[in-house]
Amino acid sequence: MRLLSLRLIVSLIVGITLVSLGFSYYEVVREKFALRRELERRAEVLGESVAGNIEKSWEDGSDRALQRTVDHFGNREHLLGFAVSDREGKVIAISPELAKVLNSTPRDLMQAMVQGHGESSYIRLNGRPVNIFALPLYRQDEIVGGLLVVHDADYIRAQNLRTWREAFVTVLIQVFLIVCITVLIVRWSIAGPIARAAQWMRALRTGRISSPHQMPDLDLFKPLAWEVVGLTESLSQARIAAEQEARLREAGESMWTADRLAVQVEYRLGGGRLFVVSNREPYIHERKGKTVEAVVPPSGLVTALEPVLDACDGTWIAHGSGDADMEVVDSHDRLRVPPRDPRYTLRRVWLTKEEEEGYYYGFANEGLWPLCHVAHTRPIFRAEDWQYYQEVNRKFNAALQQEIADVSKPAILVQDYHFALLPRMIKEKRPDGRVAIFWHIPWPNPEAFGICPWQKQLVEGLLGADLIGFHTQSHCNNFLQTVDRVVESRVDWEHFSVARQNHRTIVHPFPISVDSPEDAAPDIDFKEEYLKRAALMHSLGIETPFVGLGVDRVDYTKGIPERFQAIERFLEKHPKYQGKFTFIQIGAPSRTHIRRYKDLMAEVEAEAERINWRFQSGNWKPILFLKRHHSHHEIDDFYRATDLCLVTSLHDGMNLVAKEFLAARRDERGVLILSQFTGAARELRDALLVNPYDIDQTAEAIRAALEMEPEEKQMRVRNMRKQIREHNIYGWAGDLITELCELRLDGPDRTGAKPRTSVPAA
Ligand code: G6P
Repeated sequence: MRLLSLRLIVSLIVGITLVSLGFSYYEVVREKFALRRELERRAEVLGESVAGNIEKSWEDGSDRALQRTVDHFGNREHLLGFAVSDREGKVIAISPELAKVLNSTPRDLMQAMVQGHGESSYIRLNGRPVNIFALPLYRQDEIVGGLLVVHDADYIRAQNLRTWREAFVTVLIQVFLIVCITVLIVRWSIAGPIARAAQWMRALRTGRISSPHQMPDLDLFKPLAWEVVGLTESLSQARIAAEQEARLREAGESMWTADRLAVQVEYRLGGGRLFVVSNREPYIHERKGKTVEAVVPPSGLVTALEPVLDACDGTWIAHGSGDADMEVVDSHDRLRVPPRDPRYTLRRVWLTKEEEEGYYYGFANEGLWPLCHVAHTRPIFRAEDWQYYQEVNRKFNAALQQEIADVSKPAILVQDYHFALLPRMIKEKRPDGRVAIFWHIPWPNPEAFGICPWQKQLVEGLLGADLIGFHTQSHCNNFLQTVDRVVESRVDWEHFSVARQNHRTIVHPFPISVDSPEDAAPDIDFKEEYLKRAALMHSLGIETPFVGLGVDRVDYTKGIPERFQAIERFLEKHPKYQGKFTFIQIGAPSRTHIRRYKDLMAEVEAEAERINWRFQSGNWKPILFLKRHHSHHEIDDFYRATDLCLVTSLHDGMNLVAKEFLAARRDERGVLILSQFTGAARELRDALLVNPYDIDQTAEAIRAALEMEPEEKQMRVRNMRKQIREHNIYGWAGDLITELCELRLDGPDRTGAKPRTSVPAA
């Protein structure tokens, strides 16, 4: 840095000096010429007027009169004097000062008399610079002599010297100022930020700061710092993965990680490509003022499928629902994502308002959603919605067919109830493709499903897949029983598959999960956690010692009113908790375009208000309803700050809130109260399981959770975190893709097993 400053300073000094001197030289030359011209002009004017007088004195014929005239005019600024000569050049009158230095008649005087006009020149007289102006003198139009006007020109040299001196002083001041400014700029804008950046990088390297985002002010090095952030994140991910791998090897465990999933997918696909189809896209581009932001929707799917698509540079096909989505795609409706580190392709499919209305809001969310969730909201089946559902499935199929046109043996993973018809459509065109569909919601028993007027088409559509995944075995069983009733086929209950028209579909459970929880933290700073919690509660105006939490999309399957009623019952039965317990409900508005959802929002708000009105006293009210979408990061803070989490879904395929809550509890504290009607209840046996319709039971679970011994809480949370670690989201994706890639695609009964067609109890 010193060398750089020195080089910069020397270059500046040399540069500034050369430029300034150049300008000064030009200035001096210009000034010299101007002064000379001025002097010549003055000599000319003076010469002309003196000549007239001398010619008159000459007429008088007296040398004394001539000398008097010469003496009379001889006293002017810078004037050395006059000399008058006769026709031969002999001086006949001369100023005394001039007489001291003029030894001979200058050549210019002779020349002026010969040529008959004035002559000006600069010469040296006795080493002194002078200007001489010589002109002829006339008597009756005849040249009778010459006049010499001599000015001292030394003041021009003195003036030039003065100009040079001033220029030097100016250069010195300029150089000094510019060097000072440069040194300061180097200090503030380069040396300072570099030192801060180095300190920050050292702190990152040595682990003294945990997040690269805690960045000091790095001024113009900010873009570089962001690159370092990316690099650090990749390095720290690699380090975590390596540590994890080493620990697993040590423990002889085989746990799924994002890296292992990437390797596995690459290996299983054997250079092939993977395509994912879902309704919700992994990145939604939204306009915020003048900028476009990429928002990640709250979905476990993105966490699970991103490493898979990364690994094989796959393609994700989804509905482009953001208001700025169209602005960022290419002419094929594609873009590379993730935005900061593009590694796979997102292909967007556009839907008209009518299509969205009929397919998404109508058939998918007013028909199939309530049909599959036994939550006592009546499904609505409209013939036009069904038409749109078919049309949109065809539209997605067309987009997919374009994407896989040049790909041999593509692997296709279809997501959820929005695309029941898609597997068959895909297979009809591309029998060489491997097709799996994962049904993220429950599958009800055949009687319940049987009310759907198009159940046969739906089942046939699904059976186009080679693999169908549900969260639980009981959903698989319900599906197989439905197949058995609805279509002509052979159900193999030993291998859980369906053989139909020369095609076999495997139906297996793949319980979805969340990212692996970090290890419990023995080094956790409880004081810091306490302060964080206190700050969060303070920001919400909560002063109670006990806090409960609920996190949901506001959906009628989530049992939110039932949960509030259980809180009411709990406060009623255990009044000592009044003023001591607050329940925070985070409710993300969802599908609000549908009347039932709008009504539910009003119902939830009214219920919270009613209960608050009943119990509130002073600053305290029992329920705080936060009605907006919260980011994962925000929700994590809530998970860590509360004593219990209530998941009271009336029916749920899995419910990831339960798993997210546990994953966030590195402190191994907190109690999970979980509805027995969720898929998660099959795995998280150490939760306090409740029937959400049984208000008293849930109320009692709240009391038990608040009064549970810390050791028991720790034991339960530890067990459940272990379960999640061993069955994490990467395992879900890995198992699904491994099974899809291992399937043999030729003909029915490839297992050689004798199919069983009898239906076991579900
Ligand atoms: C459920 C569905 C998902 C869906 C999510 C959010 O979990 O299984 O497919 O994406 O809800 O609902 P939304 O309608 O907003 O996508």
